[in-house]
Amino acid sequence: MQLLDGKKLSETIRQELAEEVIRFKSSTGITPCLAAVLVGENPASQIYVSNKEKACRKIGIESQLFRLPVTTTTEELLGLVEKLNKDSGVHGILVQLPLPQGCDELRVLDAIDTKKDVDAFHPENVGLISQGRPRYLPCTPYGIQQMLVRYGIETSGKHAVIVGRSDIVGKPMALMLIQKQLPKQSGADATVTIVHSRTKNLSEITRQADLLIVAIGRSRFLTAEMVKPGAVVIDVGINRLSDGTICGDVDFDNVKDIAGAVSPVPGGVGPLTISMLLLNTLRAAKLSIQPIE
Ligand code: GUN
Repeated sequence: MQLLDGKKLSETIRQELAEEVIRFKSSTGITPCLAAVLVGENPASQIYVSNKEKACRKIGIESQLFRLPVTTTTEELLGLVEKLNKDSGVHGILVQLPLPQGCDELRVLDAIDTKKDVDAFHPENVGLISQGRPRYLPCTPYGIQQMLVRYGIETSGKHAVIVGRSDIVGKPMALMLIQKQLPKQSGADATVTIVHSRTKNLSEITRQADLLIVAIGRSRFLTAEMVKPGAVVIDVGINRLSDGTICGDVDFDNVKDIAGAVSPVPGGVGPLTISMLLLNTLRAAKLSIQPIE
């Protein structure tokens, strides 16, 4: 079994990005800047946002954090988004999800300037991905695609089964994997099935997968009898157990002897997600001076 080391891979990518940020700054005089908005006190969100901020600073991207109380209304949040949209010094805007109950998530995401939408959650950006002409790719599926490409895992003609139908991972991952492979791109041309909590005979379908991407948010959901021998298994889950430890959606110890390759949790997809946010923020800064692309 090959371990798909996302931590090591993300160090390489961030090194490449840091060098590109230096080049961009010296040729334009612009420092790429990400504005992150965190509403409420969700402990996981606080950790994610703080990791994103640290990662930005480390590679020379400016990071601004806007912390708002749990009582923030949708209108107040829309006001902040509008201000950030207009601020030419801010290139990327990220509103950490989930928002507290009472905040209208879709209205807020719809209000983000599409050119600053580094999460690629705006319907215009989702539509562009669907048509195979993305402006941004969403960070987690993008990180997974990079993992596949950089480990030389062939996707063309393979059966990819995605477990989970979320807007953040499952759906965009499917859109990306079914795209026609372009000359410079890979991690595409797959035959894709999405399964979810209401799927009948789920294990029968997952056992047909050459590539399994598990993003369902249930601790150690995927076990060996759901995996075809030699399959590549990507674990997108980040679940906290009652003893405080973090585990994925894949039962790693159970699956490792049957799979051909597995990404661990932690140290798999998570660090790559943040690396792709950095990449998208640099891209946003580039788009701010060269809007036609
Ligand atoms: N919450 C969980 N994942 C994400 C993500 O990729 N972006 C944002 N903004 N919120 C999240």
